Amino acid sequence: MPTADTPAWPRDFVWGVSTSSYQIEGAASEDGRAPSIWDIRCRQQGAIANGDTGDVACDHYHRYPEDIALMRELGVAAYRFSIAWPRVLPRGRGSPNPKGLDFYDRLVDAVLAAGIEPWACLYHWDLPQALQDRGGWTRRDSAGWFADYAVLMAQRLGDRVKRWATFNEFAVFTLFGYAIEWGAPGRADRADHLAAIHHVNLAHGAGVDVLRDLVPGASIGAIHNRQAVWPEQDLPEHHEAAALLDEHWNRAFPEPQLLGHYPPRIAAAIEPYLRAGDLARICRPIDWFGLNHYGPIFVKPDPQGTWNFTWGEAPADAPRSEIGWPIYPEAFRDELLELTRRFRLPIYVTENGAGGQDGPGPDGSIDDHHRIAYLSAYTGALHEALAAGADVRGYFVWSLLDNFEWGAGYANRFGIVYVDFATQQRTPKASARWYADLIRHARGG
Ligand code: NOJ
Repeated sequence: MPTADTPAWPRDFVWGVSTSSYQIEGAASEDGRAPSIWDIRCRQQGAIANGDTGDVACDHYHRYPEDIALMRELGVAAYRFSIAWPRVLPRGRGSPNPKGLDFYDRLVDAVLAAGIEPWACLYHWDLPQALQDRGGWTRRDSAGWFADYAVLMAQRLGDRVKRWATFNEFAVFTLFGYAIEWGAPGRADRADHLAAIHHVNLAHGAGVDVLRDLVPGASIGAIHNRQAVWPEQDLPEHHEAAALLDEHWNRAFPEPQLLGHYPPRIAAAIEPYLRAGDLARICRPIDWFGLNHYGPIFVKPDPQGTWNFTWGEAPADAPRSEIGWPIYPEAFRDELLELTRRFRLPIYVTENGAGGQDGPGPDGSIDDHHRIAYLSAYTGALHEALAAGADVRGYFVWSLLDNFEWGAGYANRFGIVYVDFATQQRTPKASARWYADLIRHARGG
């Protein structure tokens, strides 16, 4: 029961959980799915901790009914998932794969039957390898490939799915994939990176137009990673590195999409890729801003790098998560206020959570008190932001399940539900009970 000190939440505040296709589905070569750039990346020697792959992941492709039942127990109102492009269009374009489309029909129907609202994201990093073979996002044609894929999904699911996001974390997959080799396709090339930034922005604009035209009553958003970028040391070159990373991490996508211009350093560099009318194609009206936020980044210069910045160290006394990410809930509160001021759109926090090395105790239960501390600090900061006028309409925990955490493989666990990858058994952690209680209290239950 809520107590006198339980903060009140808006009654229609949306509580949810998030996942993504490559991180949970598995069934990588089943029913006609073709490889994505991440399947290929996982086969490169040393690219992924432990040689892990997404081949089986959480086997959600087969176990989705069980996973939806878990969400129902949590009491979430919304489920954000992504569609695997290479499952529905194995060659990236051309003939669709009926079995792949059937899977998303079944998934959406089951989510709706559980009384949960489906939030579909078109792109969470798993580009069909067939399109990478043609140059991937470095090709201007990629915007058209994405638009055709958006048409397919809007026509197939648009009668039941009303909440759509074009892309997840534009800046992360373009920067890590094309500039600093931390992600697929594993390139480090300034020209490729700039081309990818611009073409992904064009693809977003084209995708928004498709969804607006084809989905009656669509509520369309884009999901951006944004976190404070702070210089590791108080030196001019560290400040310059921070300003440059801030443009790449926080501004290269939201600003052209919502304000119609690139931030200054990127604007100068992107000139060769820009054609007349492009900014109008990119800057299309959307309905909400999706924010993925974890903690601030400390940055230092890297004169040898593709760009003159790299990740530095947080101060020695900074609080950190079990996987070493700095914890600053007040920076989250400030980010929400800044977003409200700057872009004037309703905000949904589409990801927030903490990584750890959780495992079962002697009695089989998983006591992830570190995650409960993180989530309560961050939802507390969110509540403060709301009270100070931030326009936040919902919050999604990353993630429902422990899953394939990209380059870290299965070693970093972000789930509020534990997955034993040997047996695929799911066990809600203490944080799942904590989250279910928060939701119940927030709804006044
Ligand atoms: C951001 C990404 O969208 C998601 O795929 C990832 O697992 C989490 N953050 C945690 O790193």
